[in-house]
Amino acid sequence: MNTLDPWGAVKIDNYTKLFDEFGISRFDELLGNIKNPHRYMRRHIIFGHRSYDSVLDAMITGKPFAAMSGFMPSGKAHLGHKMVMEMIIWHQQQGGDAFLAIADMEAHAVRNISWEKCRELGINEYILSAIALGLEPGAHVYFQSKSDHVRDLAFELGVKANFSELSAIYGFSGETNIAHMVSALTQSADILQPQLKEFRGPKPVVIPVGADQDPHIRLTRGLAYKVNMFIIEKRPGNDKSYISVRGKAAPKEALKEIAKRTGGKLYEEHVDVFALSSEEVEAVVRDVELRYGGYAFMPPASTYHKFMTGLQGGKMSSSVQESFIALSDKPEEGAKKVMRAITGGRVTIEEQKEKGGEPEKCSVYELLLFHLIEDDSELMEVYKDCVGGTRVCGVCKKHAAERMKEFLKGHQEKMELARERLGEFGI
Ligand code: TRP
Ligand code: SF4
Repeated sequence: MNTLDPWGAVKIDNYTKLFDEFGISRFDELLGNIKNPHRYMRRHIIFGHRSYDSVLDAMITGKPFAAMSGFMPSGKAHLGHKMVMEMIIWHQQQGGDAFLAIADMEAHAVRNISWEKCRELGINEYILSAIALGLEPGAHVYFQSKSDHVRDLAFELGVKANFSELSAIYGFSGETNIAHMVSALTQSADILQPQLKEFRGPKPVVIPVGADQDPHIRLTRGLAYKVNMFIIEKRPGNDKSYISVRGKAAPKEALKEIAKRTGGKLYEEHVDVFALSSEEVEAVVRDVELRYGGYAFMPPASTYHKFMTGLQGGKMSSSVQESFIALSDKPEEGAKKVMRAITGGRVTIEEQKEKGGEPEKCSVYELLLFHLIEDDSELMEVYKDCVGGTRVCGVCKKHAAERMKEFLKGHQEKMELARERLGEFGI
């Protein structure tokens, strides 16, 4: 290796095919336009996106935007959940609306968790952690089962979703219980809820997710498109492309109004617009659609982040205790897990001195990169010392374990303080 790449520890190889095959865009291209990029952005842990330009544009021009995610209360919140929470919080700090769903309907339908347990885990594991990490009042924190908006919207989306499409994504079969299917639509409703008129209408909304969650995002983008009243398409013309607005089941007067306001040509079921940009047409259509009672959803945006590997190598899995650190693990226990974690060290000290360590294979380095070191230059030092062979794993681990202990201790103190503030979040 001749160039120093402290972010290289996050392997992108497995992800590149996502770009080409599934139409996920590269996050790098947007990075230059982001004012205070989050650690995950700067370090290319967030590597891909769909439509994030729309969110960024709103952020820059001071228009409304939102970030949302949901958490299934079926176990402990761990460092992977922390990543998503941090992204929601970051967007709130940049002026966005924050939405945090506790997916109790999903946990109940899919994992058989009782409603009481859902409530307890939802609050104690997820909501308290999100507040401890910096979520501020004004955020919309809710349990799916308690939200009429979400449940009504899920039903409405169900009109446009069929069994084949859902089963292709979620692997449903004849044995799948119906509530499980409903909870898939409920997740789509969570994602679209921030755009309801009750929340100030259509706006760019980002859903920060792990790379494997893209099928859900695509499903929801598809549903948003299907429940809208109008379809806007760019068409190639003879000398210049034009924009066609089709109103599937739209009222005649609505289509007429669109023709009038865009100067377009009105047909039986569509309007062709020649002189405006797509943004201009979209704005008119959205306005008209809303006045005629439609949703006018924008396709939800997403960012994709890489996963951390498990502390023992392999996958991080909530069913393998030693593979992850929970935000409610006792500080000493968290530190011990770090001490037992797999490193990128060589077999002998001599070899390590000679060849240097391999941070790209090291789960301890990953903890530093993802969570424990905020300052980029400090991380760069660790990286250099590791590959240069002057850092030895024993000392390095102790360092990381100490930091983990400090983090967990501080975090859990903040969680207890957060308990007093639940009321500010309507809980
Ligand atoms: N299905 C997600 C999980 O398994 C939880 C979830 C519910 C969610 N609603 C959401 C995630 C909306 C993102 C956006 O954890
Ligand atoms: Fe990992 Fe630290 Fe060892 Fe390098 S020195 S391989 S970063 S534990």
